[in-house]
Amino acid sequence: MKKLLKWYRASKRSFPWRDTGDPFDVWISEIMLQQTRTQAVIGYFERFRNEIKDIEALSLIEDDRLMRLWEGLGYYSRARNLKRCAQVLMERYEGRLPEEQEALLSLPGIGPYTAGAILSIGYGRPYPAVDGNVLRVLARYFAIKENIRSDKVRKLMEETIASCYRDNKITDKQEIRDLTQAFMDLGAVVCIPNGKPNCEGCPLHQNCKAHIEGLSDVLPYRSKNKERKIVDRTLFIIRNGDTFLVSKRPNKGLLADLYEFPGVDERFDEKDVDRYLKEKGYDPLQIRKLPSSKHIFSHVEWHMDAYEIRISNWSLPLKENEMLSDRKDLQSLAIPSAFKTYIDYYGLRESE
Ligand code: ADE
Repeated sequence: MKKLLKWYRASKRSFPWRDTGDPFDVWISEIMLQQTRTQAVIGYFERFRNEIKDIEALSLIEDDRLMRLWEGLGYYSRARNLKRCAQVLMERYEGRLPEEQEALLSLPGIGPYTAGAILSIGYGRPYPAVDGNVLRVLARYFAIKENIRSDKVRKLMEETIASCYRDNKITDKQEIRDLTQAFMDLGAVVCIPNGKPNCEGCPLHQNCKAHIEGLSDVLPYRSKNKERKIVDRTLFIIRNGDTFLVSKRPNKGLLADLYEFPGVDERFDEKDVDRYLKEKGYDPLQIRKLPSSKHIFSHVEWHMDAYEIRISNWSLPLKENEMLSDRKDLQSLAIPSAFKTYIDYYGLRESE
């Protein structure tokens, strides 16, 4: 632990959520970091914190504004959970993140990892925060040959860190804050996945079992991801001049309540599109194929074809979930990055 601490203090990375002394920063950053690379999170985090100053502000933010701040990060239910959690904190915890593990775990969107990060980094309390990076570091250090995706291995590693704090009587708050982040940095920068870790640059290599046994390249062992379901989609970008038809997705399921260009879960060629739209009552002036694109979610892949459909007037009544948006409106709507190809195609985010 001493070597790790020394290494971290000499070479730690600098991030806007680091060393602010505010558990709110730890919470927000950890939720963002669960899904996105650190470098990409920096801008999101700064924008979010500039706009949302505290837990009360988060509990009151408008949903559309929140989604817009989260746009591009994916996993939008995490953002919704942040707000729900802030509301619970306002109602039951005087607008503060609690310092007790059990209380944290009872809150929406907070699991063992996030609770551990808030407790250790936010409050300097001796709790483990074991994410994928930390699991990899420990699996190599102890040369664990079991599947690191299993609950059993994760729990064992959490217990190992907790007992290390107990046995070494580590109680200094700054030391605990730094150690949790030291494991994270070691996993991100030195003990890296897929390929060769930089064992020579690792403060722990002398006692690392995988290094000693020549197993650093093959460990950790992890079970394969489940195969993702492929969904073929066709998007209709229906426009009259610079006014576009957008629709709000259902309030449950994938990308709930976010905006999209309407579409069908099938692959259509140009004739199919023409037939389909005429059945719906549209009278297309022109149908033009746009670039195809692909978006990968955790369990599903969308393989998308898209067509621009030009019409000369909006005579059809809009459905309840549909709206007409000009370029300016489109700038302010939360449109998930699954549609990035088309957002970029139309230059709808150029002002940022
Ligand atoms: N990855 C996950 N949490 C992190 C943190 N707090 N700092 C840097 N990288 C991280």
